[in-house]
Amino acid sequence: MKHELEQDIKKVIYSERSISGMVKKLGTQISRDYAGKNPLLIVVLKGSAVFAADLMRSFSIGCEIDFMVVSSYVGIQSTGNLNVIQDLRTDIAGRDVIIVEDIVDSGVTLRSLKDLLTDRSPNSLKICTLLDKPTGRKVDIQVDYVGGKVGNEFIVGYGLDYNEKYRNLSYIGVLKESVYSHK
Ligand code: IMP
Ligand code: MG
Repeated sequence: MKHELEQDIKKVIYSERSISGMVKKLGTQISRDYAGKNPLLIVVLKGSAVFAADLMRSFSIGCEIDFMVVSSYVGIQSTGNLNVIQDLRTDIAGRDVIIVEDIVDSGVTLRSLKDLLTDRSPNSLKICTLLDKPTGRKVDIQVDYVGGKVGNEFIVGYGLDYNEKYRNLSYIGVLKESVYSHK
């Protein structure tokens, strides 16, 4: 059945099938790099929840998972500061930690988050993002695992939202300008 929100999408950039391919590739890579280990995935809510659920099930190794709620975005503009709304419940000292992100744009969110987590003395700390928007970068940040790249467009679906909507689309698409321009 056709999705009600489909009318707001200008074009699809990653289909359900291509997302699944990207996730499997990342899963294979991470499983190989962390063989014999028990990495802790830190899922940055809410956007990364959909990706993380698929990513962890693509592993051929065990892992643990914990969640954080941070925010640096209001509407489509980055506010440039990190709000920790909900912190971890796991002590990450000595752990092999992988931050799971939906998309890296300016890098501001991850930069601050990485600094915050580094202070807690993990054994290792890497970043895995489904998507990278390299043209948006404002701070220097090393992203260790990248599923795919996107241009300088505002995208939604597969966890990504516009004002909390569109997260449950199974594909990733560009939002029509008309959806946010009349506000
Ligand atoms: P950064 O701090 O600019 O790298 O922002 C990263 C966060 O902003 C991501 O985790 C997303 O939640 C959000 N974000 C950045 N670009 C987009 C987009 O195109 N669509 C939806 N959310 C986005
Ligand atoms: Mg996010």
